[in-house]
Amino acid sequence: MVFDILSDVWESLTVFNAFISLLCFYFLIRLFSSRGKTPQVATQQQEEEKPRMPPRDFTNEELLEFNGSDPEKPICLAVRGKVFDVTRGKDFYGPGGVYGVFAGHDATRGLANWSTDESDIKDTYDNCSDLTPVQWMEVRDWEGHFMSKYDYVGKLLTPEQAAERTTDDASLKERKELFDKVQSLVKQADEEAMKQLENETKPKDKDT
Ligand code: HEM
Repeated sequence: MVFDILSDVWESLTVFNAFISLLCFYFLIRLFSSRGKTPQVATQQQEEEKPRMPPRDFTNEELLEFNGSDPEKPICLAVRGKVFDVTRGKDFYGPGGVYGVFAGHDATRGLANWSTDESDIKDTYDNCSDLTPVQWMEVRDWEGHFMSKYDYVGKLLTPEQAAERTTDDASLKERKELFDKVQSLVKQADEEAMKQLENETKPKDKDT
């Protein structure tokens, strides 16, 4: 009976779960060992808070802009099609950070493989269709971690969605140009009609 329960638990344990358990253990030890010491005054929260990044969607190319190389820009990464603003974790993802390779990239494959190897980080769209169900479970666990810790900004677009967005943008631009043209024609016609009306109603010079 106890063995069955333990075996069920073991089967449902992903590397992520094991990792989080180890982390809890590590932080408990740190908590107890730091008792009685002077608390650190400067915390990450006390650093100036940057305004929240406005929601938007990204292509892989656009995401690259947010790789932490420009300190004025937020740092973002994607997990399973979701883009997160991870600026708060800049010690991890900023330049020289242990997980800096994920910044400005889709981290899905790296997280699935527990790898920060450059071969697991692509600059172009990666549908990760070769990942196994167990790897997807890891990814989902990581996704939950990012959802609870960071701000969700928007979607990482598939090439099809990106093409659709470009077409939408183009047709929106076209419609706006047409609308502006019609507006200016109406204005022009109005002005001409007013001029004509003024001319017609102007008292005529009497012939002498
Ligand atoms: C010897 C191996 C490793 C150790 C000792 C380690 C240690 C840690 C620690 C202590 C944290 C938590 C820090 C905190 O929340 O304050 C962390 C978070 C994390 N680790 Fe590792 N790690 C290891 C390997 C890896 C590998 C191979 C990956 C690759 C996917 C990875 C990805 C991450 C990520 C994405 C986070 C979350 C950072 C965040 O919350 O934004 N770790 N790691």
